[in-house]
Amino acid sequence: MFVLVTGGTGYIGSHTCVELIKEGFEPVIIDNLSNSKLVVLDRIETITGKRPLFMEGDILDSVFLNDVFEQFTFAAVMHFAGLKAVGESVQQPLWYYENNVAGTLNLIKAMERKGLRNLIFSSSATVYGLPKSVPISEDFPTSTSNPYGASKLMVENILTDVAKANANAKWNIATLRYFNPIGAHESGLIGEDPKGIPNNLLPFISQVAVGKLACLSVFGDDYDTVDGTGVRDYIHVVDLARGHVCALDKVLAGAGHFVVNLGTGNGYSVLEMVKAFEAVSHQSIAYKVEVRRPGDIATCYTDPEYAKTFLGWQAAFDLTRMCEDSWRWQSNNPNGFDV
Ligand code: NAD
Ligand code: UFG
Repeated sequence: MFVLVTGGTGYIGSHTCVELIKEGFEPVIIDNLSNSKLVVLDRIETITGKRPLFMEGDILDSVFLNDVFEQFTFAAVMHFAGLKAVGESVQQPLWYYENNVAGTLNLIKAMERKGLRNLIFSSSATVYGLPKSVPISEDFPTSTSNPYGASKLMVENILTDVAKANANAKWNIATLRYFNPIGAHESGLIGEDPKGIPNNLLPFISQVAVGKLACLSVFGDDYDTVDGTGVRDYIHVVDLARGHVCALDKVLAGAGHFVVNLGTGNGYSVLEMVKAFEAVSHQSIAYKVEVRRPGDIATCYTDPEYAKTFLGWQAAFDLTRMCEDSWRWQSNNPNGFDV
């Protein structure tokens, strides 16, 4: 059964392709390689024994998309392709809206053209803005404070409208709101490979551990949390990938439109993450406390109940395992996919 995976050579997409292949699906990847490398395909092949089909192209290119849909009969689309850096989105909002929103519109139109109405969309816990409390459940109000988050929420709203408008030609849409994906495949062959200086905590910590960066800046230690530093719900990327396979099963079973949080339900502070990473890597992580990063919130973690009852999914890997797998990936590939 063919599944189209947009952005499939990226961090979460590549891990999801591994899980799809393990479950007997045939992922067909499209990616413009703006934030990933072709060597990912070799690595997926080494892990699974199967090379995913790949077509280089852009979701902004409708001619390309229509051509892809002419070549295959897909059971569903998993839509990971998107830009994801909050700071960059503030600097270049039009680029973000065009890529993430217009790109998704093109994709939906290409699907509609072929009568394919099964979709899994990568959204983010960022759509909860400043949550009124934790844990965060799916019925919490949404709001955003930057173009990246706004682009995700716009797409969510578009998908809601599409699902409503097509009551007679039913869409099955899984909107998955990810918390903080970290970790890597246990093989150490695929993982997160950020361009330049990482924006996110775990890639930064692991690059300090491997000696590429000198010192972590801890953005604020005066939040109302266990030790004053920000608390997040870190989730192993392989757990996240497996959550996608569960969502795909629901979509293929005709579950209609649904929204699910994917996180563990546990929150860890920045300093707890530093300690956990030091323990598995046996490296000391130099850090200094700096001022708060604009736009950050104190605490964010999910209520994992709905994912459990509705999808039949819950995260299996604990923080130690997340750090071990991140460290294996980072220490085996200090320069990421650039060998
Ligand atoms: P990633 O950058 O590693 O992967 C995204 C892939 O999409 C890249 O390979 C990139 O080359 C490709 N791409 C981007 N624009 C494209 C376009 N116009 N046409 C074709 N390909 C294009 O990012 P990721 O971490 O794997 O994230 C995947 C999705 O999950 C994104 O939509 C992201 O917004 C969302 N998400 C990520 C996180 C996170 O922390 N990583 C959290 C919440 C949501
Ligand atoms: N942090 C530091 N130093 C750093 C980087 C981060 O102290 O160098 C802190 C942040 O202040 C925050 C925590 O580490 O308290 C996590 O920060 P990340 O940047 O790793 O993650 P965020 O929760 O800020 O955001 C991430 C993605 C968003 C996504 C959100 C929810 O970057 O795109 O998770 O899924 F929307």
